Amino acid sequence: MSFPHYIYPATQQAAEQCGNYILQILREKLARERKATLAISGGTTPRPMFEYMAKARFDWSGVHIFWVDERAVPPDSPQSNYRLAAETLIRPANIPDENVHRIEAELPPEEAAAKYRDELARFFGLAAGAKPEFDVIHRGIGPDGHTASLFPGEPLIDDRENLVAAVWVEKMKQWRITMLPGVLLAARETAMLVCGADKGEPVKIIFEGSLDPMKYPAQALAREGRSSVWFFDADAGKLIAA
Ligand code: 6PG
Repeated sequence: MSFPHYIYPATQQAAEQCGNYILQILREKLARERKATLAISGGTTPRPMFEYMAKARFDWSGVHIFWVDERAVPPDSPQSNYRLAAETLIRPANIPDENVHRIEAELPPEEAAAKYRDELARFFGLAAGAKPEFDVIHRGIGPDGHTASLFPGEPLIDDRENLVAAVWVEKMKQWRITMLPGVLLAARETAMLVCGADKGEPVKIIFEGSLDPMKYPAQALAREGRSSVWFFDADAGKLIAA
């Protein structure tokens, strides 16, 4: 299966090139319209990309930032995806508070999901059943082939109708709030940043393995959707043809 992808010798290079790709999409949108929309993921891989983006010559005042998913923890928790972005991107780049649409994951999970769903509907002016079309969504994948907080065995990997859900992640013993496939697939552009030796095998399965999205959730989203570009370091891309 062919898909636009780039493999870089070093993780830092992959992170910076993915950051450049995202910034270019946002610049092109802001050249036409006042606002641009970006949804970001968390974990560990994005840190160098966020730090790079924060240092770039870029006017963030028109960019509205949302999250693909969040752990059910307070915003000051070391596990918080919001905290990662606040420390590495939002504060260093002085992104205005009104442009930051945090998942209020300190609330009970279902309530946090409902509030986030309402915020998406409000901001994008969604009619019932409509999906927000982000200008760009950034995602990663886990070693088990998860993406967002859609982990193997999660029935919501088949949900193309709803926007957001609270999901219990048994392996993490943790509630999470996550965008659902209908929103992720509606993005105009998707930037996938995948680094590390533990991603080599899942990447090969996602693109070359037999289709089994319940086992490899990232597979479903990789083979559908509008436009995705993948940025790998050498370790993550080692099992696929460059
Ligand atoms: C999260 C992320 C998640 C992440 C993958 C990869 O909340 O953890 O949103 O989907 O993209 O788990 O994480 P790493 O980059 O840490 O491997």
